[in-house]
Amino acid sequence: MSDALFPVPAEWAEHALIDSATYLEKYQRSIDDAAGFWRDEAQRIDWIEPFHTVKDTSFDEADFHIRWFEGGKLNITANALDRHLETRGDQVAIIWEPDNPSETVRKITYRELHRDVCRFANVLKSRGVKKGDRVTIYLPMVPEAAISMLACARIGAVHSVVFAGFSPDALAGRIEDCQSNIVITADEGLRGGKPIPLKANVDAACDKVAVETVIMLRRTGADVQIVSGRDVDWTEVMDGASSDCPAELMDAEDPLFILYTSGSTGKPKGVLHTTGGYAVWTSMTHQYVFDYKPNADGKMPVYWCAADVGWVTGHSYVVYAPLINGATQVMFEGVPNFPDHSRFWEVIDKHQVEIFYAAPTALRALMREGDEWVTKTSRKSLRLLGSVGEPINPEAWDWYHRVVGDRRCPIVDTWWQTETGGAMITPLPGATALKPGSASKPMFGVKPEIVDNDGNIQAGATDGPLVITDSWPGQMRTVYGDHDRFFQTYFNTFPGMYFTGDGCKRDEDGYYWITGRIDDVINVSGHRMGTAEVESALVAHDSVSEAAVVGMPHDIKGQGIYAYVTTNADVEDTEDLRAELVKWVRKEIGPIATPDAIQFAPGLPKTRSGKIMRRILRKIAENDVSNLGDTSTLADPSVVDDLLANRKK
Ligand code: PRX
Repeated sequence: MSDALFPVPAEWAEHALIDSATYLEKYQRSIDDAAGFWRDEAQRIDWIEPFHTVKDTSFDEADFHIRWFEGGKLNITANALDRHLETRGDQVAIIWEPDNPSETVRKITYRELHRDVCRFANVLKSRGVKKGDRVTIYLPMVPEAAISMLACARIGAVHSVVFAGFSPDALAGRIEDCQSNIVITADEGLRGGKPIPLKANVDAACDKVAVETVIMLRRTGADVQIVSGRDVDWTEVMDGASSDCPAELMDAEDPLFILYTSGSTGKPKGVLHTTGGYAVWTSMTHQYVFDYKPNADGKMPVYWCAADVGWVTGHSYVVYAPLINGATQVMFEGVPNFPDHSRFWEVIDKHQVEIFYAAPTALRALMREGDEWVTKTSRKSLRLLGSVGEPINPEAWDWYHRVVGDRRCPIVDTWWQTETGGAMITPLPGATALKPGSASKPMFGVKPEIVDNDGNIQAGATDGPLVITDSWPGQMRTVYGDHDRFFQTYFNTFPGMYFTGDGCKRDEDGYYWITGRIDDVINVSGHRMGTAEVESALVAHDSVSEAAVVGMPHDIKGQGIYAYVTTNADVEDTEDLRAELVKWVRKEIGPIATPDAIQFAPGLPKTRSGKIMRRILRKIAENDVSNLGDTSTLADPSVVDDLLANRKK
């Protein structure tokens, strides 16, 4: 923890939507009079029919339910597109910056976006997609990803975006789980100059699960296999489609999307978000956290969230919230270090970005390359910086503040999760003095608490598991197809409360400091990975009999993946096998699951009842071996000596 405190700059206190007094007043009201607070905030959305009940929620097992804005009818795309046409139809909604800066930038106005969304919605309809059907989207960071998502929402279909870095197997599992029979993809993706064979991956996934239609965008023009009767070309089907598509009338609680995320156990869960609460929550948080409003000249500030649409940050803060709020935003196809380490800052200068939101892992990687890549660019347009996805260490925070933001720009360190839909604990730039590394204070309507291991709420400065004791509008509503898993995962550990899976400290000023996951989830470069998923990928290899995976500290990724692998008796533990296993996991899950270290272990530390003692494995991976704790309950304490002797550096 750092002791530094950065007061709110005077011009922010004066001009921001929320100053410190307003924050306190609004926060208090959001807790004391939740119904009144949210009734007012919900007016930011155009409701086709008004809701009759603001909030009807209970986290108790006997009466477990979460419903917001019941009776309300809306369409989120009418809010993100149609309502802007009259006032800002010709305003640029999306500035698309391609992977390679020498390719042409695309600028898409609200009118054009509306037209293309309506067209693509008609394409989906013509392929038999109806309200409630699931549509899988496996696209790179191109405007068509947003168009596809919005086209689904237009007709009430439920999109399931699968990050384009996932393997064919991971894609097939997600298609199967939500029984979607249509996939939208591209021939190839492009990242850092390297092609990613998306269509070939879809073909491989389709060998495992039956899909009726594949719509393919041509991004690179690569030679790909076309399966007749199943595959159709994006441009061809769009050409003939009408741009008139009325927005489907959706109930506030109708599903909007499914997004798969990793948990402690089992396969990734389909996190389901619904329409009304998500629209209110994401647009409100986006407006207040980024102080998003017209500049003095009436123009909307250029906003850039560098997250991929394959993750929740891309859903909430690239696609839905900025468009609902009428933003002009940059959508970036590439990576921070291509063609060189100045790319982010050059894009900021090129498009005069005022608000920039990125993950600490990218900042740490760039910080390592030296300041000159940053300082040779102007960045004068920047006013506000954001961070998301993992704890930002004070060194990276300082660099972001001092070098990137020239000490001028506040940093909003936003803590939230796929499950929470939007920012939960975060500074507001005009209201909150900043402490580097702290996500600071709760957003309106959020009641965080820190509990002890028995679920007793702790007062004052303390640390422990972080829970949220009451519902907020953007909360996930279920695990798709498994409502019981939803309850068991989040509401069973500490009855009556939502358990975040994170550990947290609260200091004497009431600031929250997220310390990281305390369950079997690791956060690799801001991406969630379930240790169980990597383990099951490893044991699927013929040579492996058992595997245990834990997190390890990693300078750039935040956490790396450390795997202990027991091979079959007749297998030799060679360097070749190690390399082969790394490749295997990449193939099974995708490059984000690449193990950083594999240690061959003839035995794993197990209790007499056969449970692996992960605490010991974590300590060895972290090289914190001076105090391994009590090992006397192990069935065979001598395995620890072998593990220590063969620790991977
Ligand atoms: O551990 C927390 C970490 O990321 C987890 C959620 O991951 P995901 O669902 O993929 O969503 C990431 C983008 C919202 C959390 O449980 N996390 C996220 N933001 C922060 C963070 N940890 C510390 N500080 C943050 N600002």
